[in-house]
Amino acid sequence: MSHPFHGDGARTLYTSEDRTRQRSEALLSAKTSGRNISEVICGFADSVRLPERPSILDVGCGQGRTTVRLARHYPDASLTAVDASPAMVAATVKRTAGLNVEALTGDFHSLPFGDSSFDLAIAIMCLYHSPTPHLAISEIGRTLRASAILVTKAIDSYSELAALLEVTGLDPRATSRPSLYEAAHSGNLPELTEQGGLQVDQVEHETHTFTFNDLMHTATYLATCPQFVLPDHVRQPQILAAELRSRIPDGPITTSATITYVLARPTGRTP
Ligand SMILES: C[S@@+](CC[C@H](N)C(=O)[O-])C[C@H]1O[C@@H](n2cnc3c(N)ncnc32)[C@H](O)[C@@H]1O
Repeated sequence: MSHPFHGDGARTLYTSEDRTRQRSEALLSAKTSGRNISEVICGFADSVRLPERPSILDVGCGQGRTTVRLARHYPDASLTAVDASPAMVAATVKRTAGLNVEALTGDFHSLPFGDSSFDLAIAIMCLYHSPTPHLAISEIGRTLRASAILVTKAIDSYSELAALLEVTGLDPRATSRPSLYEAAHSGNLPELTEQGGLQVDQVEHETHTFTFNDLMHTATYLATCPQFVLPDHVRQPQILAAELRSRIPDGPITTSATITYVLARPTGRTP
């Protein structure tokens, strides 16, 4: 089986804004601890020396949530958002209307920008979509004058959900399949960053916890997870919830993910 987070797998995941919104809303509505990632990014950005009117690049911008947060935090900045998915770029264009943001399609292995174009680049939860993330980091570094903030998750994030599908027999191989995040995760991101030619200044980890209210809430998220191989007849959240209820008692389900932030800069530049 090809990797569900690379190549065509990733392209399929991000072909519609609705699907992406359903996936992130199911997860965010279960969140019980962990700082908002866009807020943490603004804090890191404030900690580096940026010019008065910085140019900022959001790589793999998705629906543009962090792009908007940065545009409001730095009203004099010029923001550029890039994503491989035209649907995500369209969502970002809509969300950033009226702000100083340009959004365009592009692949982070070959960015449509000149060398040293940006004062700050961020890449949140997207590098694990590359089978060669160090090359994507090197390409981001090429476009940079100063700092980069790279963000990923731990390789065992949400492992409780894989265990749930395995014990219920709905996906007997759920815990033995490779992690979606295996290419660029909390454990290897600092090393990949150095391989990509950037110097790592700071690494920070934070565990986020999520408690789904019941099996229906859990199923809403599980149905969007490409890691799991579910029988065809249980792909709809309602049917998946009913199957889960027939195998285990209904109730809250808790899971967690470690979020890792790497602050870096092109080798030899002062912070
Ligand atoms: C999980 S979303 C993250 C979105 C956003 N950064 C956030 O944190 O909300 C991952 C994004 O990476 C994008 N992506 C995947 N492969 C890419 C590539 N090769 N070049 C640019 N973007 C890519 C996807 O289209 C998707 O929008």
